[in-house]
Amino acid sequence: SYSQRVPPGTKRMPGPFPLPLIGNTLSLSKNPHLSLTKMSEVYGDVLQIQIGTKPVLVLSGLETIREALIKQGEVFMGRPDLFTFRLIGDGQSLTFSQDSGEVWKARRRLAHNALKTFAIAPSLTYSSTSLVEEHICREADYLVRKFQQLIEEQGEFDPYRYVVVSVANVICAMCFGRRYNHDDQNFLDIVNLTDEFGAAAASGNPADFIPILQYLPSRAMNRFVDINKKFMNFIQKIVHEHYQTYDKNAVRDITDSLIQHSQERKVDENSNVQLSDKQIINIVNDLFGAGFDTVTTALSWSLTYLVVNPKIQDKIQNELDQVIGRERRPKLSDRSQLPYTEAFILEMFRHSSFLPFTIPHCTTSDTVLNGCFIPKGICVLINQWQVNHDPKLWKDPFKFSPERFLNEDGLSLNKTEMEKALIFGLGKRRCVGEAIGRAEVFLFLTTMLQQMQFSIQDVEKLDMSPQYGLTMKLKRHHVTARLRFSMMATQ
Ligand code: HEM
Repeated sequence: SYSQRVPPGTKRMPGPFPLPLIGNTLSLSKNPHLSLTKMSEVYGDVLQIQIGTKPVLVLSGLETIREALIKQGEVFMGRPDLFTFRLIGDGQSLTFSQDSGEVWKARRRLAHNALKTFAIAPSLTYSSTSLVEEHICREADYLVRKFQQLIEEQGEFDPYRYVVVSVANVICAMCFGRRYNHDDQNFLDIVNLTDEFGAAAASGNPADFIPILQYLPSRAMNRFVDINKKFMNFIQKIVHEHYQTYDKNAVRDITDSLIQHSQERKVDENSNVQLSDKQIINIVNDLFGAGFDTVTTALSWSLTYLVVNPKIQDKIQNELDQVIGRERRPKLSDRSQLPYTEAFILEMFRHSSFLPFTIPHCTTSDTVLNGCFIPKGICVLINQWQVNHDPKLWKDPFKFSPERFLNEDGLSLNKTEMEKALIFGLGKRRCVGEAIGRAEVFLFLTTMLQQMQFSIQDVEKLDMSPQYGLTMKLKRHHVTARLRFSMMATQ
């Protein structure tokens, strides 16, 4: 409890005084990343609050977070036992479940290997590209054509509605070897569940910390259960089809490769743990689930920054014209020649910090951080937003300025600056899809910007305040676009 003694030589974690029953829940406000940033200015990088009746450790400051997630990686790699997390993926999610032991490690390795084989591996169809690149190029082409059609028919359109399908199709291609049409209602129903999912799974949801809320009937909670069921049903149907058509000599996608793994080698060669079929196959739920909402959100923030800052859009397009021209499409290997575009993407990640906290962590043993005693099993929030707006790390942190990531010459990226931006987490729980996520954002964005110019009417009326959640989103808005030139599907 709050008044607990701490071992000699250590301090008690500082923090605001909690009220009975509700603790400091009220001071979290509608934007916990902002209130907890303010609180860190008073109490420091290591602070304790009480959400409901449960103590929660909040970490801020890049150095402190590095110390915890990297130097003390094993101690801080757990996931807390949260009510909402138990409802995700039958409580067996690689991402959200409480397990962080040998089974989790073996599953995480499987996820890594699956992505290596079905994303990073070279494409057999086109030389010098990877599989993920091939999928993205195909989807980005569809997307540009769809946008073109929408401009002709309606003038304005909501890009999010179409981007989400294209991005989800990329992860579908890798996981399930298939894609869906932009008007497939069944698929649209699934990909549009993420807003509500993100609101419930957000860090600091009172239902996770105030036990009585879990027993009271709640529309929001019933809906969350329903969303997770829908999601599982969608995937289970596809997995079932895979089992029926599985051929061990022709492994088609990540689902097939997981089936193969479960049938051939249940014992992970790097450890002695035995994984159940379900623990293996369910990895595809995590990859599919994590693989499209994040990237879609990144792209919709990108488009918003571009329509608000037309000069920045011009600069990116000039760079694309000079380096790539108009005869061919952008490739991942162009990245090193496109420093301004890369700087824009970094600044979009930093400035939006649309994953304000990582997914909550939890300590696996007692420890000491910055002189404070930290007990085993405490829920830990990592404030990425605070790091990305820390005036000690960034000049004018609230200004949107891609240039901050460039060296003086303007021709290369500044490594030191890049390493300060905290977006994908750090250490043992760091995002497994980082390389793919970054590749998708780069390729979708450059393919769109090479061919289209985006704008918006009434910029002044645009509401740039995000909706708090696991991933923060802007209110959806319409943009318009014009084709810069017409590129035939030649690749
Ligand atoms: C975890 C960010 C794309 C798969 C995470 C975490 C963050 C993150 C912040 C939590 C780290 C922590 O808890 O400390 C992002 C961003 C993305 C992105 C910003 C895109 C722009 C992807 C993609 C995939 C993916 C494309 C899959 C193909 C995962 C998985 C985890 C995870 C499976 C859970 C890891 C674990 O709990 O061990 N991501 N991600 N992510 N991400 Fe991503």
